[in-house]
Parts: sequence; C-alpha cells; structure tokens
Amino acid sequence: MADRIVIGISGASGAPIAEALLKALKKERVQTHLVISRGGAMTIEQETGMSAGEIGQLADVVYDNQDLGAALASGSFKTMGMVVVPCSMKTLAGIHSGYSDNLLLRAADVTLKERRRLVLVARECPLSQVHLRNMYELSQMGAVILPPVLSYYHKPETLEEMTNHIVGRIMDQLGMEYEGFRRWGG
Ligand SMILES: Cc1cc2nc3c(=O)[nH]c(=O)nc-3n(C[C@H](O)[C@H](O)[C@H](O)COP(=O)(O)O)c2cc1C
Repeated sequence: MADRIVIGISGASGAPIAEALLKALKKERVQTHLVISRGGAMTIEQETGMSAGEIGQLADVVYDNQDLGAALASGSFKTMGMVVVPCSMKTLAGIHSGYSDNLLLRAADVTLKERRRLVLVARECPLSQVHLRNMYELSQMGAVILPPVLSYYHKPETLEEMTNHIVGRIMDQLGMEYEGFRRWGG
C-alpha cells in the first residue's frame, strides 16, 4: 500500500527530527507505523521533553519493539518503505548484518529484502571505520544513507529551521513535499 510507511526511532541523537517527520507525514495523510527502541525512548525524553508515549500519539499505529510477531515483521505487510530516524550505529550494524533481534531491525530487514525504500538517518560524530564500512555497504545494498548534517546556505536562524531542512531531505527521498523545506534556488 503506497500510503503506509514504517518509522523506526533508535537511540542516536536527533529525536526532534523524528517528531517533525511524524508531523509532516500526518499532514500528508500518510499512515505511519512506528516502532521505538529502548535507546530511542531515552533520547526522545532527553531531546524533546516528550515521552515515547507522547511521540507515539503522532503515529497511526505504535508497535512494541519486542513484538517480533507484529505485522511489520512480515514482507506480506505492504508499505512504501521505512525511515530509521535517527539511526544509531548499533541499529545500523544490526541492519547491516541482518541481526534482527527486535522489531525495528526486523522491519528494516524486511524493507531491504522486499526491495523497498529504506532511509537511514544515521548519526554519530566522528565516524569510525566500522560505521563508515556499514554505511557504505548498506548503500550498496540499496539503502539511502541520509545523515542529519548541518547546512548553512539556506540561512537557518533557529534549530527548528535546521531540523526542517533535514525533514525536507527525508521527504524528498519519499517523493513528498515539505512546506518547511527551503530549497536552493540559486
Ligand atoms: C543522549 C544519548 C545520545 C546518544 N547519541 C548517539 C548517537 O548520536 N549515535 C549513536 O550511534 N549512539 C548514540 N547513543 C548511544 C545509543 O543510544 C546506544 O548505542 C544504544 O545501545 C543504541 O541502541 P538502539 O540502536 O537499539 O536504540 C546515545 C545515547 C544517549 C543516551
């Protein structure tokens, strides 16, 4: 189904990006299926001032990360793809190796095997050779590696504008417009 997307929130810095993306997808009337790792729940509280439960209210369906029998665990559950936002280096490694011991990892594994869009908002600084190798090889496997890097050419004045820019980049990967995204027009 084209209007259904999986969102995974793992324990890297960048939870406000996930919050803004969920709001943007709601505006586009895309059905969001959300799974949050334990690390993700921690960073949500640290970085947004919201609880994982409150972030969950922005999604249409929320899954328990331990529920490996949930719909997201099967390729027969059709989606337009998955965004892992933010994607920790641990979750990146799990996806890279196919070590699907939680629902978030399994859903990403399914997205890859079904050749659907997989966008990884991978965040760490600096990056080790392990991180770089995993990203490079996942890119070769078809995933889009979209690190939430800073940009200045659109003259951001607030953190929200920086965040919006990343959300716009993610929405571009999903083939959707985002009103908060200021494109480079020369
Ligand atoms: C406040 C906070 C920020 C973190 N930021 C990052 C990060 O940017 N990148 C990263 O790879 N791990 C980061 N970590 C560590 C991960 O949360 C940790 O490796 C965790 O095991 C990831 O598990 P998960 O991928 O299942 O969520 C952070 C942890 C905390 C508490």
